[in-house]
Amino acid sequence: MAAAKGPQACSAMVFMFWFLVLNSRMLRAENLELELLLSFKSSLNDPLNYLSNWNPSATFCKWQGITCTNSSRIAVIELSGKNISGKVSSSIFQLPYIQTIDLSINQLSGKLPDDIFSSSSLRFLNLSNNNFTGPIPNGSIFLLETLDLSNNMLSGKIPQEIGSFSSLRFLDLGGNVLVGKIPLSITNLRSLQVLTLASNQLVGQIPSELGQMRSLKWIYLGYNNLSGEIPIELGQLTSLNHLDLVYNNLTGQIPSSLGNLSNLQYLFLYQNKLAGPIPKSIFGLTKLISLDLSDNYLSGEIPELIIKLKNLEILHLFSNNFTGKIPVALSSLPRLRILQLWSNKLSGEIPKDLGKQNNLTVLDLSTNSLTGRIPEGLCSSGNLFKLILFSNSLEDEIPKSLSACKSLRRVRLQDNSLSGELSSEFTKLPLVYFFDISSNNLSGRIDSRKWEMPSLQMLSLAKNGFWGGLPDSFGSENLENFRPVSKSVLGCYST
Ligand SMILES: *[C@@H]1O[C@H](CO)[C@@H](O)[C@H](O)[C@H]1NC(C)=O
Ligand SMILES: *[C@@H]1O[C@H](CO)[C@@H](O)[C@H](O)[C@H]1NC(C)=O
Ligand SMILES: *[C@@H]1O[C@H](CO)[C@@H](O)[C@H](O)[C@H]1NC(C)=O
Ligand SMILES: *[C@@H]1O[C@H](CO)[C@@H](O)[C@H](O)[C@H]1NC(C)=O
Ligand SMILES: *[C@@H]1O[C@H](CO)[C@@H](O)[C@H](O)[C@H]1NC(C)=O
Ligand SMILES: *[C@@H]1O[C@H](CO)[C@@H](O)[C@H](O)[C@H]1NC(C)=O
Ligand SMILES: *[C@@H]1O[C@H](CO)[C@@H](O)[C@H](O)[C@H]1NC(C)=O
Ligand SMILES: *[C@@H]1O[C@H](CO)[C@@H](O)[C@H](O)[C@H]1NC(C)=O
Ligand SMILES: *[C@@H]1O[C@H](CO)[C@@H](O)[C@H](O)[C@H]1NC(C)=O
Ligand SMILES: *[C@@H]1O[C@H](CO)[C@@H](O)[C@H](O)[C@H]1NC(C)=O
Ligand SMILES: *[C@@H]1O[C@H](CO)[C@@H](O)[C@H](O)[C@H]1NC(C)=O
Repeated sequence: MAAAKGPQACSAMVFMFWFLVLNSRMLRAENLELELLLSFKSSLNDPLNYLSNWNPSATFCKWQGITCTNSSRIAVIELSGKNISGKVSSSIFQLPYIQTIDLSINQLSGKLPDDIFSSSSLRFLNLSNNNFTGPIPNGSIFLLETLDLSNNMLSGKIPQEIGSFSSLRFLDLGGNVLVGKIPLSITNLRSLQVLTLASNQLVGQIPSELGQMRSLKWIYLGYNNLSGEIPIELGQLTSLNHLDLVYNNLTGQIPSSLGNLSNLQYLFLYQNKLAGPIPKSIFGLTKLISLDLSDNYLSGEIPELIIKLKNLEILHLFSNNFTGKIPVALSSLPRLRILQLWSNKLSGEIPKDLGKQNNLTVLDLSTNSLTGRIPEGLCSSGNLFKLILFSNSLEDEIPKSLSACKSLRRVRLQDNSLSGELSSEFTKLPLVYFFDISSNNLSGRIDSRKWEMPSLQMLSLAKNGFWGGLPDSFGSENLENFRPVSKSVLGCYST
């Protein structure tokens, strides 16, 4: 019996020994994490005292903004929008088990630490909406899925190594001052779903290799200085939901391959130098909600094929060189809310049923060569608030139905050939603040009616056939600097 005691006591001692070793290792690891956090805190200013319980008397797993794993290791630092300023020390990027760092919407400044991409555990990094300057550091993190460095003042080129973040699904470098070309290596990011490089100073062409990034759902490359043509290969990105290339220097035609993007809901190509017609294939994108091709050099007709875009809510084709008629098909798009076709060379009549089956809130067809009457049903939705038809050749009376359109706020019908009298309800629209019907052929006494337009700030009746004295009041206190010019030339403006 006694002989057996020795080995047992011995194994208990061995066990104790290992227990102590392991425990002290864990303590050292905890001390390391504690020190790294305190070092991070020491370089920050914290005016809201959000970090006030960051001191060693409480276990760091209970500190504000810190979340630990179930084995008491720091996994999450979440300090978004806490008005923290100062510099970020590299220490938090050395936390051995860190997975999520969110320091967005603060006033952090200075350069990003060189070893920001040295962690092997990090999956989510959001440093957006701060004041970081200097270059994006070299390096990459294999596991990182989300990298958001947007809305800082980061400069220099996008590092080639961006292509080594093999797990990246979300990349936002927008709203910085990055220069140079889009690095080709970016096309290695085959899991990437969201790519935002918007609002930088990027130059060169959009790489055609982007067409190989089949997981992409959102592309935002707007507000740069990209040039050349839109690559045909983008038509291969069949998961794409948003394509936004606005405010660049893109030339050539819109590739008809974009008609293969059958999941596309938002196509924004405005403010470029695109020419030629809208490819017919675009009208097969039946999921489109918003189509904005304004401010380009596009030409040709807007085809009746647009009837296929049953989900369309917003159509902006203004400031182009479109000719022909406004397609009648637009009147049967049930969700159409905003229709802006101004500054083109459109002719013929406005489709007479426009508005009846739509949900119009904004209609701007100004500066074209439109003729005929203003349709009766424009305000059938009861939501029309902007009606802008100036500088056309519209004639006949302003439809009576519009005088019942209580939602109207901004009405600009000047420079047409409208005739007849203003109905008495028209001068009682409660929300209209801007009302310009000058340079038409309208007539009638203007003082024989009550003007009750309490919101009015700008009124121009000039260059019509109105007569009679001025009314005592237009019903608005906001209307100032009243300037009657002559019997038939009336105008007044607010400041
Ligand atoms: C707790 O940790 C173990 C391993 O350390 C892990 O398998 C488990 O998923 C964790 N549980 C939670 C809820 O995080
Ligand atoms: C954040 O700090 C700015 C000045 O840096 C101050 O104007 C602002 O009021 C602060 N916000 C809060 C919520 O305290
Ligand atoms: C990063 O933070 C900002 C501000 O809190 C937020 O709007 C944005 O969605 C975040 N980015 C990601 C990828 O979650
Ligand atoms: C952040 O940058 C903006 C723009 O340069 C500047 O106006 C602001 O003062 C900066 N804030 C801090 C805290 O540095
Ligand atoms: C990144 O590495 C390249 C060479 O590989 C070097 O030219 C560049 O200066 C480095 N950038 C930074 C921010 O360290
Ligand atoms: C487009 O390029 C022209 C010269 O080719 C340049 O003057 C202009 O600033 C560029 N536009 C943009 C938005 O960068
Ligand atoms: C845009 O690029 C063109 C030519 O590539 C260049 O002439 C122009 O200066 C650039 N504009 C800006 C604002 O960077
Ligand atoms: C688009 O689809 C058509 C068939 O519908 C196919 O012939 C064409 O190659 C595709 N284009 C691209 C760029 O994927
Ligand atoms: C617009 O079209 C007319 C012919 O209809 C053409 O003469 C003119 O050059 C075009 N303008 C632009 C900017 O494309
Ligand atoms: C019409 O537009 C309004 C807002 O402008 C919206 O609340 C309403 O749901 C829309 N109706 C339809 C049928 O789309
Ligand atoms: C203006 O209207 C009157 C009838 O009210 C009509 O006789 C005249 O031809 C019209 N003038 C123009 C330029 O349309």
